[in-house]
Amino acid sequence: MERTITQYIAEIETFSSLTDTDLEQFRLTYLTKNGIINQLFDEFKTIPSEKKKIVGQLLNQLKISANEKYELLKKLSEQTQSYSDNNSDLSLTANYGNFGSRHPMSLVRNEIIQIFSRIGFTIEEGPEIEDDWHIFTALNFQEDHPARDMQDTFFIEQQPDIALRTHTSSVQVRLMQNNKPPLRAIMPGRVYRNEAISARAHCFFHQIEGLYIDKNVSFADLKQTLLYFSKEMFCADTQIRLRPSYFPFTEPSAEMDISCTICGGKGCNMCKKTGWVEILGCGMVDPNVLENCRIDSSVYSGFAFGMGIERITNLKYSVKDLRLFSENDTRFLKQFQNVL
Ligand code: PHE
Repeated sequence: MERTITQYIAEIETFSSLTDTDLEQFRLTYLTKNGIINQLFDEFKTIPSEKKKIVGQLLNQLKISANEKYELLKKLSEQTQSYSDNNSDLSLTANYGNFGSRHPMSLVRNEIIQIFSRIGFTIEEGPEIEDDWHIFTALNFQEDHPARDMQDTFFIEQQPDIALRTHTSSVQVRLMQNNKPPLRAIMPGRVYRNEAISARAHCFFHQIEGLYIDKNVSFADLKQTLLYFSKEMFCADTQIRLRPSYFPFTEPSAEMDISCTICGGKGCNMCKKTGWVEILGCGMVDPNVLENCRIDSSVYSGFAFGMGIERITNLKYSVKDLRLFSENDTRFLKQFQNVL
């Protein structure tokens, strides 16, 4: 009896017809009152009790397999019929379901890169794990100078000389060390600061740094470049304003505001009713920095600027909470599906 049951199980396994007549035949053969399975259960009553355990298990398996197979094939057969009933065009390309989309930060980064590429800036990258010299010392941060506290740094415990870069300005240094002027590059990348995570701050974010070194580069060149960028990035009537500021690696230094993209300068929550929003830091590269990178500061001068990509993305798409950028919630990401 065991052999017979095993054979039926194997037979059921290979059965795959979807036609109505075959399926009905299957049902009559196995599943009806007078079908094979019920007959086997009757026979089961008569076998010696020491065989009951093993045969009983096989018999149950047969019953389950037959029922499952029948349900599955019936469902498939119904589906196939409904396709043909609807006159569906089966030659159409398949619907592949959900497509992914570019992350808003990538969209904005790419747009910034394109704007600067159009005026001859190349793209450079550098390491995120960096040494103190490239992050601070070469950029004119004196040892123990309070300016080092401007940026809360993640240091590597066993090697206090190594840290996660706090800004992309370290790439500036690498570029100047390894190349001869004229230099004209933008440097996108992730940076890290030891900050509590909230809607307005994160322990990592993204910057794009810009650097232009040549003979006779002036503050007017910096201003004009940033005005061009702002108009391209936001809209043609965007205005800029520069406020004096301080960075150890630029002199003079400034912070740049643009006229508020939300209210056009009339005053709203985004610009805290001032009509202006700060978007970047900039300045003329300090001669000490040029000398640290073996560039003759009596021949060359240059400007640098650095901006947060999250900030620009916020202004473009009004994203209120920074954490959304790194949570990968598809409900958030999907909103950018049709943005090129
Ligand atoms: N590195 C500065 C920061 O992280 C930005 C900056 C870059 C300022 C270049 C001036 C020049 O805030």
